[in-house]
Amino acid sequence: MFKTGQKWYREEEIAESYDESRFTGGGKVLDFREKKMLLSLVDPKDKKILDIATGTGRFAEFLSSKEGQVIGLDASREMLMQNEVESIQGDALNLPFKAKAFDITISMRFFHLLDQKKIKDFVLEVERVTKDKFVFESLHPLSLRILYQWALPQGSSLYSNSLLKKKFSDLAVIKEVNFYPKFIIPYGFYQSLPLDIGEKVNELDEKISENQKLLASTVYWELYFED
Ligand SMILES: C[S@@+](CC[C@H](N)C(=O)[O-])C[C@H]1O[C@@H](n2cnc3c(N)ncnc32)[C@H](O)[C@@H]1O
Repeated sequence: MFKTGQKWYREEEIAESYDESRFTGGGKVLDFREKKMLLSLVDPKDKKILDIATGTGRFAEFLSSKEGQVIGLDASREMLMQNEVESIQGDALNLPFKAKAFDITISMRFFHLLDQKKIKDFVLEVERVTKDKFVFESLHPLSLRILYQWALPQGSSLYSNSLLKKKFSDLAVIKEVNFYPKFIIPYGFYQSLPLDIGEKVNELDEKISENQKLLASTVYWELYFED
């Protein structure tokens, strides 16, 4: 199910270098843009928020700084050791929380670790603990991500928008689905660029992906749940 991704993020060395290897240099631009995107979908002030697969807590910390009451959950103790926000170790498919304990749930850079057969179970488990909505992102197969996807040791699944829309339309607990394709230049390229080049590439990417939805590598999703 999540085996490869789970195992990978339990390596101490991987957890300790997670932020440094991705979000320095050109990767800083990426981190900033992902947070800006999240904030356009989530108003954190005074909301109870669950961050599934919180990892080192990038997004949990960010939403806490905007007055959200955030709790993180992650399967990896090693990743959680790098995290300063209140968090617990646990499995995304078996959340240790009461029904409707959170206003909003987010899960960033996690959906691609999820096996296709488990997508519906995962969304239903999120819905069980969430009152309002679920925000996450998926990675799209028709994108430049395909250039390096095969080389990723942690494993990664790319899901088309039509496949996900179909899965979500089968779930009666979802009342509204919105999705926003972004990032023509995929994440992996930014982290290898110096900051100034990363900024220029990002500027161009933001302009192009404003009008051009095809070839976007990252798709942000908002699922609103029935009351
Ligand atoms: C790419 S990291 C994302 C971390 C963070 N959300 C971010 O965007 O920086 C993926 C995370 O998913 C966690 N993970 C993998 N399988 C999991 C599972 N079944 N339940 C909870 N967390 C899981 C890993 O431990 C890892 O921290």
